[in-house]
Amino acid sequence: MIVKNVNLEVVCGITSKIKDSTLPEIALAGRSNVGKSSLINALIKRKSYAKTSSTPGKTQTLNFYNVNDMMYLVDLPGYGYTRVSREESDKWAKMINRYLTGSKALRGIAQLVDIRHEPSTLDKQMFEWIKSSNIPYIIVATKLDKIPKTKVDTHKNIIRSAFKIDESTPIYAFSMRSKAGREEIWSAIDALLVHKS
Ligand code: GTP
Ligand code: MG
Repeated sequence: MIVKNVNLEVVCGITSKIKDSTLPEIALAGRSNVGKSSLINALIKRKSYAKTSSTPGKTQTLNFYNVNDMMYLVDLPGYGYTRVSREESDKWAKMINRYLTGSKALRGIAQLVDIRHEPSTLDKQMFEWIKSSNIPYIIVATKLDKIPKTKVDTHKNIIRSAFKIDESTPIYAFSMRSKAGREEIWSAIDALLVHKS
């Protein structure tokens, strides 16, 4: 995808009715702070169009980024953010769930995990849900710049074994710093967009 124009078009809070969109959507899921908003910025080649923060819990709404009037990248609030009340995080979980199960335009999910760590229980639950939903997905391992190059394959294998997938499922390693992985991720997203579901 060659990004020509981007527009943050719709922001849904926990009480909003979720948009019924006509353009295909690709959603980014992952725990708080994993780098979802940073990946969106890299994909759209803007430094800080999507707000990011070193403090988890930055994105608290569903944000629909219209790319080229062709598709939406949907930034979801992260899960596993411990500093909000149980009640609040339940509301977010419900909102995310309502969107993922209800959107007619959703063509794929990018599941993000931090390349440094073994996927958490919540990551595994999310991934199991994605697999059972039959929504096409890609896996992105973020923060590639935080581990030595020699360890990349080992870390990818740790993720594969936690997610119970084999070598045939690619894991796209990505760094917001070097932008490594960006073009491969765009190609994978483009493939999800043409995939007939
Ligand atoms: P929530 O909105 O809280 O769900 O978080 P998020 O998943 O959108 O994470 P965000 O993009 O805000 O990034 C969280 C922090 O990680 C920020 O301080 C980013 O600068 C940092 N970060 C994201 N990606 C990378 C990366 O590839 N490498 C490094 N070194 N830092 C990263
Ligand atoms: Mg965010």
